[in-house]
Amino acid sequence: MDKDQIPSVAEVLGQGDSQIIGITGSPTTTIKITIDIKEESKLGRILGQMVHFVVEEDRQKILVVGQVISIETQNRWHEDSTFKGVIRLHGKLPHLSGRADNRIAEISVQATYSIVVGSHSEARMLGTSPSTGIEVRKMSNQLMAALMKTYDNDVTYMGHVYGTEVHMPFWFRHFGKNDPAPEGRRGAGDAHHIGVFGKSGSGKSVTAAYMLMGYAKNSKYMNILVLDPQKQFSLNKDLPNGLDLEVKVRGYGMEFKKYSMLDDLCLPGSEHELFSSLLMKKGFIRRGFGITTEDKDLAASIAIASYLSHRYEVSEGKRCDLNRMNTNYSQSLMEETLGKFIENSGDNEYMRMVYAKGTFRDDKVRIIKEVLDSEDKRNSLYAQYWAPVMQYFMATKTDGTGRKTIDDIVDEIADPNKGGRFIVLDISSEKEPLISENVRALFVRLIEERIKRAGEECYAEGKRLNCLIVLDEAHRFISSESDDPQIKSFTKGIIDSVRTTRKYGIGYMFITQTIESLDKEILQQTRIFAFGYGLTLGTEIRVISNIVNNEAAIQLYRSFIDPSSTNRYPFMFYGSVSPLSFTGSPLFLEVYTDPADFK
Ligand SMILES: Nc1ncnc2c1ncn2[C@@H]1O[C@H](COP(=O)(O)OP(=O)(O)O)[C@@H](O)[C@H]1O
Ligand SMILES: [Mg+2]
Repeated sequence: MDKDQIPSVAEVLGQGDSQIIGITGSPTTTIKITIDIKEESKLGRILGQMVHFVVEEDRQKILVVGQVISIETQNRWHEDSTFKGVIRLHGKLPHLSGRADNRIAEISVQATYSIVVGSHSEARMLGTSPSTGIEVRKMSNQLMAALMKTYDNDVTYMGHVYGTEVHMPFWFRHFGKNDPAPEGRRGAGDAHHIGVFGKSGSGKSVTAAYMLMGYAKNSKYMNILVLDPQKQFSLNKDLPNGLDLEVKVRGYGMEFKKYSMLDDLCLPGSEHELFSSLLMKKGFIRRGFGITTEDKDLAASIAIASYLSHRYEVSEGKRCDLNRMNTNYSQSLMEETLGKFIENSGDNEYMRMVYAKGTFRDDKVRIIKEVLDSEDKRNSLYAQYWAPVMQYFMATKTDGTGRKTIDDIVDEIADPNKGGRFIVLDISSEKEPLISENVRALFVRLIEERIKRAGEECYAEGKRLNCLIVLDEAHRFISSESDDPQIKSFTKGIIDSVRTTRKYGIGYMFITQTIESLDKEILQQTRIFAFGYGLTLGTEIRVISNIVNNEAAIQLYRSFIDPSSTNRYPFMFYGSVSPLSFTGSPLFLEVYTDPADFK
């Protein structure tokens, strides 16, 4: 509908044709309101409904909007001890059971607006708790449209109010200033972190995709980087039929790019330890040194890394930058490295890291010599074990095409002067068994560190980035309890980052199956929460209760049904995600199953 044709709030309310579900009751505060349910509406679905009513304050009409988050049946006869005997005898109370029931609902107030005839409605807070006896009506799409008229450009629709057909407005604002510039987009004024939680299959990635489409409306005002370990965003995999992230993002005027680790991106050229650990996994050391035990394998891998990084450092990055290798140099580097282990064979600092002395060492020296002395052996060791690892580090592939480095990606994302880039980085590398979770964690950590550094530099120059970094399946990379050194160090780094990067204009979105996996520190820094189905176990629900701090809302969240049996994807949102959530009450939503509804 054309914006001018949307009737005003006063007009919609004047028509008075939305269903009355009850009247305000007692007790009631400015944010939590009890309503007595009317007889006729008892049988209809009430839980989750968005409702509204009008109060008068300082001779001004104020519209109150809230969501029903709990319902209780009361029948005082059933609570009376003398009647309990009758119930036991008859199974119920004749004439009283059912008929004398009262139903009370609790609504949490989402937003209040002053209604000015002939003008748009202003958001404001209630000055006092509403009186009892005021008619409470169901929210309609018509009234919602009237309310959102002023926010129209900023609002995104990605689902229905829980259990209803009413479209729920959201806003996904960039992290810049909140200037209502004529043709600009309002920012949130600040960067913030976002958490999307829920069991596997609860619809997190799909919901996050919708949220990102909402963020993409900010087009040139922000940059977005999605780290995609399941290819869900890169391939539109397992997204509802017809949801095409790329098409949408481009449609909003953002540049959409997809890169895949290993194919389009090289591994970091100064990570010699990563290189040598991959060599070890590939079997280079067993073959080249004739080593057969795990501890010696590891010791030799550390020795290789220390040789390469030593050379890198003394040449100030000119030598042994693995990104700058070509085939010739790569093979001669292999030979040189092996040679390093046998020179001055009596006392060789690198060999000493593996074997102090003795026949084992002499044996390995002999094997390395044999390899180096035979062109065939050298070539086959190179082709089978060294080259396949080195190829992932080379910025120029063997077919001559180029690969981007981590710095290239960071330059595209962390650019204070240019927004409008949406980059999806496929870090699945499913075809290459060498690339374990641990390598992915290292990769993600390096990207994260460099973006943070770029943010820091901009900040020092008085500029801010405006970028969102999305990490799907974050529990795989972030865990304070993990023994894996890469995951440990990424976790430590990210905890430090969430504290500091907001002021640089960098926000994170973590999508994760377990809320516990995110450190308390991270949760404290998170501003927007989306909770999908299934986090109802003890510790998890306790963490959620601490965040949301609303018993009735937690009960409603617990009543969510597994989407795999209903094809409905309910979420509880908490934080500043909607023009309707300015009181800070959680919002309950069912994410659209038809992407055509997304607006
Ligand atoms: N809003 C939705 N509409 C339709 N299908 C959905 C919706 N959300 C999730 N699904 C489907 O449910 C499955 C799991 O969703 P996904 O987002 O991958 O879950 P998670 O990331 O929580 O594991 C996928 O097959 C997906 O297509
Ligand atoms: Mg997922």
